Amino acid sequence: MCGIVGYIGPRDLSTVILVGLERLEYRGYDSCGIAAVNGGLTIRKTAGRLQKLKDILANDPVSGNLGIGHTRWATHGKVTDENSHPFTDCSRRIALVHNGIIENYRELRERLVAEGHQFVSSTDTEVIVHLIESHYKKDLATAVRKAAAELQGSYAIAVISADEPDRMVAMKFGGPLIIGQGKHEFVVASDALALVGIAQQMLPMHDGEIAVITRDALELTDAGGQPIKRQFVTMDIKAKAVTKGGYPHFMRKEIFEQPQIIAEGISHRFRDQRVLLDAEFLLYPDEVEKVERIVIQACGTSYHAGLVGRYYFEKLCRIPVSVEISSELRTSEFIYDSRTLMIPISQSGETADTLAALREARARDIHSLAVLNTKRSSIDREADSSVYIHAGPEIGVASTKAYTAQIFTLLSLALHFARVRKTMPDEKFDDIVHHLRHLPVQMRQALALDASVKATAERLAEARDFLFLGRGINYPSALEGALKLKEISYVHATGLAAGEMKHGPIALISENTPVIGIAPRDAVHEKMLSNLAESKARKALIIAVGTEGDKALEELADTVFSVPAAPEYLMPMLVAIPLQLLAYHVAVLHGCDVDKPRNLAKSVTVE
Ligand code: AGP
Repeated sequence: MCGIVGYIGPRDLSTVILVGLERLEYRGYDSCGIAAVNGGLTIRKTAGRLQKLKDILANDPVSGNLGIGHTRWATHGKVTDENSHPFTDCSRRIALVHNGIIENYRELRERLVAEGHQFVSSTDTEVIVHLIESHYKKDLATAVRKAAAELQGSYAIAVISADEPDRMVAMKFGGPLIIGQGKHEFVVASDALALVGIAQQMLPMHDGEIAVITRDALELTDAGGQPIKRQFVTMDIKAKAVTKGGYPHFMRKEIFEQPQIIAEGISHRFRDQRVLLDAEFLLYPDEVEKVERIVIQACGTSYHAGLVGRYYFEKLCRIPVSVEISSELRTSEFIYDSRTLMIPISQSGETADTLAALREARARDIHSLAVLNTKRSSIDREADSSVYIHAGPEIGVASTKAYTAQIFTLLSLALHFARVRKTMPDEKFDDIVHHLRHLPVQMRQALALDASVKATAERLAEARDFLFLGRGINYPSALEGALKLKEISYVHATGLAAGEMKHGPIALISENTPVIGIAPRDAVHEKMLSNLAESKARKALIIAVGTEGDKALEELADTVFSVPAAPEYLMPMLVAIPLQLLAYHVAVLHGCDVDKPRNLAKSVTVE
């Protein structure tokens, strides 16, 4: 997803905008740029990384107290200097940056060209700044409002004009845009991380709103120009969240944060045999009792967490659950009704497909309960209820701490539902909470596998095809392990239900296909051993994740990452750790950009 940073205030403009864009690098991008108002309009932009922009600015600096910056993740138009943002109008007096996709840009471009506008790029974004120019009569906000009325698609924009050097205009329709207020300064950004260190207060914009921002004031109006009064909220992101804290990568830091996050979750969520949920959890007991069906929907890692969550709701609450990939759900028949509860899961709260499927549910008056890591995100605002995973900002594109925190939150929710629906005796509740209290220590023990995982990664550095096998509640663990490896090391990896091996995939097995088997001592342990034995018989290298002291597994596998014994329902949060570390070390060995893998964005806000 692209990154937007706009600033008006007394600080050094380049520094503020570049630092802000660096905070957004994790979202993925392939070009960047900055525009400043200083008498006229100065633009510096380039394909490539921020370092290239810094080098340009070192030789050819910009100055001023009003400016906008952007990191672009190419959707329309190749990765070139010309297609980088900011864009200007024909007079080079207005500059704009944009996140999103303008669906009717072709017809707008044709009309604007016919009116004499010259285009310099092949992007959809450039039509916006020329449209604003065509409406501009010395009032930027009015011109933006009129232009927006003609746009179809999703957009978050920040606009400045050399003719109005005391203000910045921002607007959004789809895709996040947050305003931060400091002392005689404002910053607007597509992610709250960019506000850290400048703003003490923040205000997420809502769709259709237009913000006119001067150094000391914010004027918020709706699409019709009517003033809107909304309260700023105190920034809830600490500065340490945006630093690596001594780790070489954000991903590694976030892997190692997991035990603490779960420990804090346990202390906040369980008290006097009750589950404490967030204030935004608005399902009353009688509504919880009425739920006859749950549809969990998410993408990527969040989808894998949902697959684990299914076991919890079915086993503890006796509620049938379907788990859907968001992009597939939104094109399905959607045969749900008011007795269905939809649970969208999203770390960012901005994933376009998950948001779209949520909107389908809302259109059918189906109650939605979002599991999120980002408060005041689009999904948070549109869901009927929310529960937060409290994992703190996750910077690494590869989701790690959010995954285990999502699983923990889903277990907490299922325990709450089971209490309300009386489908679980008190002793069982107490037993689960008792085992949960041991989990953070066990996760730390799993982190102690780091050195042996690194040694194994060195053995696997040349492998180009991996199979991850799991069964039951660890089938999602296999899917997640494969996704982690492929998305940061660019190596092909497939996660499989181990029982499917004989139905085709076993043909892939050879001495060149390491098999990663997730085989803790549980109800399907023996079957997993058979699957691994079949793979070994075909010369595959067997790397297993198992329970400490499992002699049978140790005899069978070439390497075993042993995690402490824990109940089956907690295992996905334990086995995830060696799998995350394996992906991390293989990627580092391959010299990949672990925190910002190629082609990926942290939050996929375009469909
Ligand atoms: C996970 O490592 C990936 N970065 C990706 O699959 C991610 O989980 C997916 O895009 C969903 O994102 P969300 O949780 O923010 O909705």
